Amino acid sequence: MERDPAGDEELRRAEIGGGDPDGGGPGIEVVETPDLEEALRDREGKPLPQALPILPLRSTVTYPDTLTPLAVGNPRSVKLVDDVLSGERTLVMVASREPELEEPGPDQLYDVGVAGVVARMIKVPDGTMRVLVQGTQRVRIGEYIAEQPYLVARISELPDVVEPSSELDTLTRNVQNTFSQIIEGIPYLPEELQLAVANVDDPSALCHLIAGAMRISTEEKQELLEEVDVGKRLRRLSEILARELEVVQLGAQIQSQVQSEMEKGQREYFLREQLKAIQQELGEGDERQAEINELRERIEQAALPEHARKAADRELSRLERLPPAAAEYGVIRTYLEWMVELPWSVETEDKLDIEHAREVLDADHYDLEKVKERILEYLAVRKLKPDSPGPILCFVGPPGVGKTSLGRSIARALDRKFQRISVGGVRDEAEIRGHRRTYIGAMPGTVIRALRDAGSRNPVFMIDEIDKMGADFRGDPASAMLEVLDPAQNDSFRDHFLDLEFDLSDVLFIATANFLDPIPPPLQDRMEVIQLSGYTVDEKLHIAKNYLLPRQIEENGLRPSQIEFTDEALIAIGDEYTREAGVRNFERQIGTVCRKIAREAAEGKLDGTAKITPERARELLGPRKFFAEQARRTKDPGVATGLAWTPVGGEVLFVECSAMAGSGKLTITGQLGDVMKESAEAALSWVRGHQSELAPELPEDWFSKHDIHIHVPSGAVPKDGPSAGVAMATALASLVSGRPVANDVAMTGEITLTGQVLPIGGVKEKSLAAQRAGIKRVILPERNKGDVEEIPQHEREELEYLYVNELGEVLEHALHPADQETTARQVGQR
Ligand SMILES: Nc1ncnc2c1ncn2[C@@H]1O[C@H](COP(=O)(O)OP(=O)(O)OP(=O)(O)O)[C@@H](O)[C@H]1O
Ligand SMILES: [Mg+2]
Repeated sequence: MERDPAGDEELRRAEIGGGDPDGGGPGIEVVETPDLEEALRDREGKPLPQALPILPLRSTVTYPDTLTPLAVGNPRSVKLVDDVLSGERTLVMVASREPELEEPGPDQLYDVGVAGVVARMIKVPDGTMRVLVQGTQRVRIGEYIAEQPYLVARISELPDVVEPSSELDTLTRNVQNTFSQIIEGIPYLPEELQLAVANVDDPSALCHLIAGAMRISTEEKQELLEEVDVGKRLRRLSEILARELEVVQLGAQIQSQVQSEMEKGQREYFLREQLKAIQQELGEGDERQAEINELRERIEQAALPEHARKAADRELSRLERLPPAAAEYGVIRTYLEWMVELPWSVETEDKLDIEHAREVLDADHYDLEKVKERILEYLAVRKLKPDSPGPILCFVGPPGVGKTSLGRSIARALDRKFQRISVGGVRDEAEIRGHRRTYIGAMPGTVIRALRDAGSRNPVFMIDEIDKMGADFRGDPASAMLEVLDPAQNDSFRDHFLDLEFDLSDVLFIATANFLDPIPPPLQDRMEVIQLSGYTVDEKLHIAKNYLLPRQIEENGLRPSQIEFTDEALIAIGDEYTREAGVRNFERQIGTVCRKIAREAAEGKLDGTAKITPERARELLGPRKFFAEQARRTKDPGVATGLAWTPVGGEVLFVECSAMAGSGKLTITGQLGDVMKESAEAALSWVRGHQSELAPELPEDWFSKHDIHIHVPSGAVPKDGPSAGVAMATALASLVSGRPVANDVAMTGEITLTGQVLPIGGVKEKSLAAQRAGIKRVILPERNKGDVEEIPQHEREELEYLYVNELGEVLEHALHPADQETTARQVGQR
């Protein structure tokens, strides 16, 4: 086979450069043309033989006037060269269309080749040979006259066609220029070529020289060889060169880009090294490194779940690359500190012992039977089915009835950590879910913060005042809360600051609220509501004796033997110094008494036991704060006792009205809401409509000649709701009829213009308030009967409930019978 293997590049280059390949050596036979010059001169002018041996070339094309080194290994070709060397030394080199073929036949060979004289032959011991052939002229191959032992064909010369023109000159110059540009960008082209090309003036020879040196496709090389018109050939070559130049330039561009990237990287590395050295010099490097090492260690210890670990590692490596002075450094460090402090995998073990839980709950709270039962059931389910998410409890009730402290007890019973957050007044979603790290001073939201404080991923987590969450333009915290509380999605709670999912599904959430109504329905939906109501005087006494007192004695550093409260004293404290549904203030007042006694003890003035009687309590606590409401009641007509429901539990309220000469105006005062004002108007309309029955003796135009003033005093507490309608109508009826309202009766209910009495809410609270105020009879809408039945027997046995459907019945129960004399007198006054 014949080819121009890549390994022969050196050889070829040496030839072109005018050098000589090394010859000689053991086992190497070198055959040289005795006088190549002479042989070539011989050839010149003489016509070529009609037929010549054909030497196929593999993937190379040679040109006239070129010295081509060839490696000859195929036996057929070896024989050819051997024969040629012993004869005319002339052969024809022709390229093969199918370079893969070992021994191409006539069909696979191109029709145009180059005749040449073998200038030198070296036999290599392995039987192959290296041959150097001097190309002489272009020939067309005609008919093949032999194929064995090698190809022989008839040939005819194909001389150049040159038409000298200025275009040819220009083209020549152009090709020379382009090539000299290319040569710089292509490493395989030797520098000497530049000189050679510059020195060749003959356009045809120039073409051959360049085409032979360039690595372009065999097809293109052959195309250049076959083109006899030198002008056309030059143009074609010039096109090829232009394309190659573009490739070279593009390559150079890419190269320089890569280079500059690399240089940038190196520069950075270099600067960083310098920075390190400077930091070390300043003693900063160690500190910083120590900090990073510490963080790394803490990340290791924090046993982060995979997704968190990834994030932590990523941030740590960013931190390492930042100078401590960079603003981001602090941000990332804060972030990492949060990451490692969170209890990703810290868990306390639950103590699911129902008996034990019962004991703890009883030890902390008096009564609350229903609530405790529910909590124990809850724990029982947890015990039997530990991975069921379980409902979220929501304790609803007035302040101070033990909602928060029950949560604490549950945590104690379960042996879990306890955390409490208050979402009252929270309007910004970010408070719950945190701010993104891009904010200055960003922090995780309150949920994640509380978990960090808890130090375990399964604490009892109390969300206080869930009914007082707001919403504004900063987003809706309720929807964030929803995500926290929904067992279906809280296993992947995402805090904006962490920007990672945190599993809240093992947290035991308990929400608390004073009212159910303001809680958004979707939130209510996810919680199981447990109602706690206010305490009766009796219950408060119990709680005080068994829970509040021992605690306050201990907290104030007293010994139980140093102080003793009588029941009467406790009742007096509750009555005169507090007005509440729960026991928070009660406890505070008891605390105040204990503190004062503690001071006496500390001053050494206490000997024996301090006995607290009502008198002693009053002495210690100062002027009483609250008066029993009955005392303020008057026997005059125009005042009725209503029952209201406020955030501090039920309350007794008095509706007062009076009339004065005027033009039929209605004035309403006492911090009343719109709904309550409308009730007042409805009440007045009804009373006006029934004037003839209620006050037959009044002149018909009485109302148009009088202004009515309705006032609801007490406590500057804003009041609203329709449930005072009944009391207002009664007060007005009392006013016009002159019949006073019985002072042992209180009432509640909404009214319609036709005098129907509609049901209202908060029956239990109102009932307790009535009892506290010493009321004996409560007038209630018939349809609230069911609510009354739900109040434990002992909380209502002191009260008589009167159920009504319309205002007429109310007045029958409430108004004293008409006393002809007073009525006449009073009406006369009016
Ligand atoms: N049944 C009870 N037995 C013993 N102590 C009680 C009982 N109810 C309430 N307390 C005590 O009353 C105090 C106030 O209770 P707590 O703070 O739990 O009220 P709360 O219902 O959470 O009120 P708020 O709605 O204002 O948050 C606590 O010290 C609590 O121990
Ligand atoms: Mg609370």
